[in-house]
Amino acid sequence: MLIDSHNRIIDYVRIAITDKCNLRCFYCMPEKGISFVKKQSLLSYEEMLRLVALLADNGIHKVRITGGEPFLRKDFIYFLRELSKIKGLKKIAITTNGTLTEAYLDELISLGITSFNLSIDSIDPTRFKEITRRDAFDKVWSCYKAMLNKNLDLKLNAVVMDGRNIDDLIPMVGLGKDQNVSIRFIEEMPFNGSDNYTPELKWNYIKILDHISSHYPEIEKLQDPKNSTSLNYRVNGFKGSFGIIPAYTRSFCGSCNRIRITPTGLLKTCLYDDGVFNIRDLMRADANDNQLLEAIQNAIQHKAKDGFEAEKNRKLMGPVGESMATIGG
Ligand code: 5AD
Ligand code: SF4
Repeated sequence: MLIDSHNRIIDYVRIAITDKCNLRCFYCMPEKGISFVKKQSLLSYEEMLRLVALLADNGIHKVRITGGEPFLRKDFIYFLRELSKIKGLKKIAITTNGTLTEAYLDELISLGITSFNLSIDSIDPTRFKEITRRDAFDKVWSCYKAMLNKNLDLKLNAVVMDGRNIDDLIPMVGLGKDQNVSIRFIEEMPFNGSDNYTPELKWNYIKILDHISSHYPEIEKLQDPKNSTSLNYRVNGFKGSFGIIPAYTRSFCGSCNRIRITPTGLLKTCLYDDGVFNIRDLMRADANDNQLLEAIQNAIQHKAKDGFEAEKNRKLMGPVGESMATIGG
């Protein structure tokens, strides 16, 4: 088992398999995009499969594939097929923007992949286009409907942004009236790929909840799943639920069970750190599994107690500036 010095069991890895995206959500990337990494700098599928097999042997039971947009990487389905064969892995989940996903759903289901986080910051086509700077709402909405029809384990992710999608909060909670879907509202984090972007957090989780409660007074607090980053609620009589993720307030770090791998193979033991070491480099320097495992164990040992400590320890000075597309959300 992988355990850190704060006695937290690490059983979940999030792997961003590409930094490329076909949307330009303004909180994530500048309009012109970021300077995307070259193919040979990416961890190869073989390297990722080797890594996940090693992690699964050591107590990591869940993997989430993110990006960028994972469906943009060539031969993604091949990778998932191989990934699904790894013994010891109990769950594979995918975070996607839903622009390319729908065509693959049946194949994913046949691989046992049924958990999806769909990023959708607005259910109003005009606002959606303003936020993502691309005209893709219809595709994403169609994907959402297909996921519902196929009864998948589905969560919608919406970053809450002052002046951009506040009018969506109530209608999005309303989606749960007749559908068994969970909508999670995420505090905006200052990671949009430009150097000095530190937004003032206008909508923290308390304000988000107050806003929703003023429209739906009959809200019940649900028991949050173990290691959950969201505080979860249900409007009385609704089939679905909603959650709020205090991503910037960082009140959930005490039960953190995760590590992250960036597209270039950097291991991050916290979303807010600047990376501990590069797994790709170690692999390409012919490290054997024991050496890899030792390096990973050592990194986990030194995992920061919370996102504030991780941010303070960043060696690259200044606030967190990288794009979420290079971290994987
Ligand atoms: N703040 C909060 N959440 C973000 N995401 C991407 N960038 C940010 C940000 N700056 C979320 C997206 C997506 C997930 C991968 O990360 O909404 O659902
Ligand atoms: Fe793409 Fe997700 Fe970033 Fe939007 S938030 S630009 S969908 S990676």
